[in-house]
Amino acid sequence: MEGASFLARTLGLAPRFDVMATLAKGPVCYTKLLGKRIYFVNDAEYVKRILLDNVANYPKSATYRNNLRPFLGDGLLISEGDFWKRQRRLAQPAFHLRRLKALAAAMADAAVRMAAGWQHGRVTDVMIEMNAVTMEIVARTLFGADVSGNIGEVGEAMTVLQEETGRVGFTAFFDLPEFLTRPRGRRFGDAVATLDRIVNRIVAERRASGETRDDLLSMLLEARDEETGEGMTDKQLRDELVTLFLAGHETTAIALTWTFHLLGQNPRAEALLQAEVDEVLGERDAPSFEDLERLPYARMVAEEAMRLYPPAYVFSRRAAGDDQLGPYRMPAGAHIVISPYALHRRPDYWPEPDAFWPERFAPGARTDRPKLAYLPFGGGARICIGNSFAMMEHAIVLAAAVRHWQLESIPGRDVKTEPRITLRPRGGLPMRVMRRAAG
Ligand code: HEM
Repeated sequence: MEGASFLARTLGLAPRFDVMATLAKGPVCYTKLLGKRIYFVNDAEYVKRILLDNVANYPKSATYRNNLRPFLGDGLLISEGDFWKRQRRLAQPAFHLRRLKALAAAMADAAVRMAAGWQHGRVTDVMIEMNAVTMEIVARTLFGADVSGNIGEVGEAMTVLQEETGRVGFTAFFDLPEFLTRPRGRRFGDAVATLDRIVNRIVAERRASGETRDDLLSMLLEARDEETGEGMTDKQLRDELVTLFLAGHETTAIALTWTFHLLGQNPRAEALLQAEVDEVLGERDAPSFEDLERLPYARMVAEEAMRLYPPAYVFSRRAAGDDQLGPYRMPAGAHIVISPYALHRRPDYWPEPDAFWPERFAPGARTDRPKLAYLPFGGGARICIGNSFAMMEHAIVLAAAVRHWQLESIPGRDVKTEPRITLRPRGGLPMRVMRRAAG
């Protein structure tokens, strides 16, 4: 086990801290901070034990929950035990492919409008563009038309809440006392109140109207527990909607942003993608749900981009009781950090791990690596509920952008990662937007 006193060395130096290199050092890496034991688990077999085989022993860490609870309540991301199980059962049908199909047109509409607003030759911050489009998509697919009058207000409140909860930075890395991680203050309180007011109004109006629409809100309102026949209370709905709103946009925006960066660096892959998109879309500006299966290269590009830059690059668990991971003992109370980033760059799982090579994910390509060597959406029972939603959204936005535009990297600009709660490019991602001759 690697001794790593680096946490103590680097506390407070977050922006200069090369987390990634350190995390990739060995199957299990151990340190002690403020008397708490912290373990980095970088082996796919051990991760499988934590997320699947012995999952009951590894609830989510308290630090993470304390940080997000004042904002997300008891939403899916942080709830536990029987309550989580029931809520997941209730929400799951809303994410079945058959239901997602109804959301594709709203995604395409937002993506086409985004691309229509671009100007030839202009440098634009791709991170900002992707954040705006994914926020609009999540707002519309969650609430349908109901949020159109409030989309600006919801967006602002969401940004404040993300900033305030993100202030603590590496929450997943540390096992910190509650008073240090709980967001507070007037700005935070006001943003929660704004969001609550809007979400509660939308839920009340929709309940009163009895109307059913093709959005996630209607699907969640209709959801009934198979065993008890009960639906969700207003409070549960509020927590799940706010959770889906938060979990559902920044991660996808980041995945898209890194995808454009990587395509800007890899002209061959970019040309292959353009050719696929042109052929499938023909005269159209964005794909339909049915087109998606005819865009396999777009999917491979997304998967490879999330391998190199997994938006949720790190998450954490707590060992409830003693356990054994191979030769390593995990004592009860251990704080465990799992990093998709580190696993995705292990050379024994991924030959030439730093190379962007979408063909790794070609149908029928090598599959002898352990299953959990790739986990951009986590794994086991707590796997991301929105993974198909995100993959569909990624393909639609990417295809709509690529149809008419080519995004060029800025020469000489060194693009670095900013590992906060999610893995953003430091300082955003300016790129030059060029109209394609063929577009
Ligand atoms: C590329 C985009 C996305 C990435 C990389 C991502 C990543 C993840 C990861 C790694 C987890 C597991 C965290 C853990 O085990 O501690 C997770 C959970 C979750 N994600 Fe996503 N996510 C994405 C998009 C979405 C979308 C679009 C939605 C909703 C519309 C969503 C909703 C959720 C929820 C509710 C959970 C908690 C699930 C549970 O514990 O039952 N995510 N996500």
